[in-house]
Amino acid sequence: MAKILVTGGAGYIGSHTCVELLNAGHQVVVLDNLSNSSEESLNRVQALTGKTLDFIQGDIRRAEDLDQVFNTHQIDAVIHFAGLKAVGESQQIPLAYFDNNISGSISLTQAMQRAGVFNLVFSSSATVYDEANTSPLNETMPTAMPTNNYGYTKLIVEQLLEKLSLADPRWSIALLRYFNPVGAHKSGRIGEDPQGIPNNLMPYITQVAVGRREKLSIYGNDYDTVDGTGVRDYIHVVDLANAHLCALTNRLNATGCRAWNIGTGHGSSVLEVKNTFEQVNGVAITFEFAERRAGDVATSYADNSRAISELNWQPQYDLEDMLIDSWNWQKQNPKGYH
Ligand code: NAD
Ligand code: UD1
Repeated sequence: MAKILVTGGAGYIGSHTCVELLNAGHQVVVLDNLSNSSEESLNRVQALTGKTLDFIQGDIRRAEDLDQVFNTHQIDAVIHFAGLKAVGESQQIPLAYFDNNISGSISLTQAMQRAGVFNLVFSSSATVYDEANTSPLNETMPTAMPTNNYGYTKLIVEQLLEKLSLADPRWSIALLRYFNPVGAHKSGRIGEDPQGIPNNLMPYITQVAVGRREKLSIYGNDYDTVDGTGVRDYIHVVDLANAHLCALTNRLNATGCRAWNIGTGHGSSVLEVKNTFEQVNGVAITFEFAERRAGDVATSYADNSRAISELNWQPQYDLEDMLIDSWNWQKQNPKGYH
């Protein structure tokens, strides 16, 4: 069993990953500045698993915070979730994104190198693929600088990590390119808790369902898709969390830097998501069709065969599970963790 540093472990994907790590018998140290999360998520992770983890409130941009972690704990590997993730905000305050996501990742890898820790799993995104590619997207397809600053930071960090591993063969780096993470732990005790108005589809739907938002705007109904609405590859957050364990287990002795898509390999349209949510949960979602959202593509879904064959990972949950679990979390926690 290993001791894993989870940066950003109090956040949505991080907290679910902590549950899976603890359940698998690993020791967990979380470093999070709580800029987009609450310590309550970690209290619940510990209550759910009946196990304890170490939490340090600190910042990946601060060498002192990182050195304190590595000097106190014998860390075997790092799962790096910490960063900012709102596409719209990244256009308003680009420097904050460059600082947290790019400088933060550099500062983290510098501290890892000082500590002699070279195993890293990085949260990347399907947004790094060139929009000219046709789905299913596979890892050999070209990437391209995303037009938004958030996506830009993800591709820059991927490229920095790639160059780092080429320069120093001690590094073992897994780039996990997430498609669209949704859902929540079956218990409904942990889940996604966005601040302010949600940008993403699933939290918007659950907030309409719970009465916090009036209606869903569906951005575009004239795409070249099955029903005119955008198609995405939604992946259950517990399946995504498990992909990190698979990456750790199967990469711990490997070297180099390699990317894996983490998606189900299946695309669902916005209308399909909305209609299925209504059916499986028995809740009506008021909606209207609106203009296309700038920067959106019609269709994006994964070829996940590399992760299945090389990481020995297999998604377990389908769209209905994702929608049931998202709603279960939201209705038990109408105001999130607050
Ligand atoms: P989240 O905001 O819930 O979690 C990120 C965590 O990092 C938060 O707890 C936040 O407080 C912490 N953090 C931010 N900056 C920090 C810093 N400088 N130092 C220490 N902690 C810091 O987001 P999430 O949805 O769990 O996403 C986790 C990672 O996955 C992010 O890197 C995100 O870009 C990436 N990702 C997310 C999605 C998605 O749709 N959720 C898709 C693709 C990639
Ligand atoms: C978005 C980001 C992407 C990021 C990902 C995960 C953009 C352009 N892309 O991806 O960079 O990696 O989130 O955080 O912001 N939709 C609606 N109404 C809504 C919200 C969304 O119709 O209120 C539609 C979108 O047009 C899209 C689908 O739902 O077709 C999914 O949207 P979303 O959840 O925001 O994810 P992505 O656009 O795939």
